[in-house]
Amino acid sequence: MKIFLDTANIESIKKYNDMGLVDGVTTNPTLLAKEKGNPAEIMREIVRMVDGPVSLEVVGTTAGTMLEEAYRLKKYGKNVVVKIPMIPEGLVAVKKLKADGIETNVTLVFSANQAILAAKAGAAYVSPFIGRLDDSGQDGMSLIREIVQIFSNYQFDTNVLVASVRHPMHVVEAGKIGAHVVTLPPDILGKMLTHPLTDKGLSTFLSDWEKVKKENPNLVI
Ligand code: E4P
Repeated sequence: MKIFLDTANIESIKKYNDMGLVDGVTTNPTLLAKEKGNPAEIMREIVRMVDGPVSLEVVGTTAGTMLEEAYRLKKYGKNVVVKIPMIPEGLVAVKKLKADGIETNVTLVFSANQAILAAKAGAAYVSPFIGRLDDSGQDGMSLIREIVQIFSNYQFDTNVLVASVRHPMHVVEAGKIGAHVVTLPPDILGKMLTHPLTDKGLSTFLSDWEKVKKENPNLVI
């Protein structure tokens, strides 16, 4: 299972990149709006920092404007994946970008039908937003189950990128289903890292070691 960070925050990306946990990054206009600084510079910096795929989103809504933006964004680096909204014009852009050898991530996917069509158009990734479905009273994880099964039935090479993740159990469930990628807000990745029994256990080890050191003042390990 690949882990992407769902953020445009440079510090968070650096923090988890240093732990070897960042297989890629996804951004969107809302995430960029939360950060201070020039969004184009922030995107360039992320593309430089991360070895894996970095999704950068277009804001045009016609195939023509999306394509213009896509070609500009792709110049930020080889690892750029162009994020395209799941609208009919978006799929026109996806098809053309695939023909040009540019990978796309189709975003704002809320049904298995949309995922099938994005894959048929040539998307490298589809991003079903499970948290937003849960928020609206639907079961986001059922959608992941459906899409993973359909893609596997037909050997589609499109990756299922689980997006709008709200808590660590989403990650466990997505992994059990076999989703290819989860994209996580940094705080969710932080929650996955820690466990109270780890902290309690370490604290006991350290205090017991203090006793050992008192009895062996010259001890070095
Ligand atoms: C995915 O690529 C999106 O950036 C993201 O997961 C959206 O999540 P949200 O519903 O928390 O905004």
